Amino acid sequence: MVNIAIDGPAGAGKSTVARGAAKALGYIYVDTGALYRTVALYVLQNGHNVHDSERVKAALADIRIELKFVGGVQRVYLNGRDVSEEIRTPEVSMGASAVAALPCVREFLFEQQRRIAREKNCIMDGRDIGTVVLPDAQVKVFLTASAEERARRRYREDVLFEEVLRDVQERDYNDSHRAVAPLKQAEDAVLLDTTGITLEESVSRLIQCIKERSQ
Ligand code: DC
Repeated sequence: MVNIAIDGPAGAGKSTVARGAAKALGYIYVDTGALYRTVALYVLQNGHNVHDSERVKAALADIRIELKFVGGVQRVYLNGRDVSEEIRTPEVSMGASAVAALPCVREFLFEQQRRIAREKNCIMDGRDIGTVVLPDAQVKVFLTASAEERARRRYREDVLFEEVLRDVQERDYNDSHRAVAPLKQAEDAVLLDTTGITLEESVSRLIQCIKERSQ
């Protein structure tokens, strides 16, 4: 199987860029952030504290997450219910960043990610794909952009730009400073900085990089 690992900070455009490249190459696109988001959704909906390791660990016994790929598009199911849209709120984003720091959660989701990569040609994106989940991926890319640019891409009319920027920076900090599987560029990853380049250009650079390295 061909496995492509894409890592990078929140809002770098990983999912959009990876999805575009996966479509062009005929691979499935796997968004691993959705798994952490789904754990966070369950924990929040059950009124638990996302930082409470013991509580979260106990909750994991009641969580079953499935990823389904419909026409190459990923849908995520929590105990049989499609939560693909529900996991996209800012509250769940922050919750996901918190539960992702817990070793029990990373362990819980690890095998599921590995299994997909064993079974399918895929482009998988996350924070620790090239470093931990798929250390033998044929191609690894670290996709990033400046914090300001990432906040600009996320910005919507109903929130202050400064708030979006603060959220982005807070998540960057959490994700890169945790003890287990922190966000960092794998030694053998190619750096792709999309600051100042368009989405189309980013997709074509990623495709070029994959083609060059996966022969
Ligand atoms: O990619 P995303 O924004 O949907 O991810 C949500 C959170 O999940 C992110 O802040 C960190 C965590 N995450 C992780 O720790 N490891 C991954 N492979 C993917 C996501």
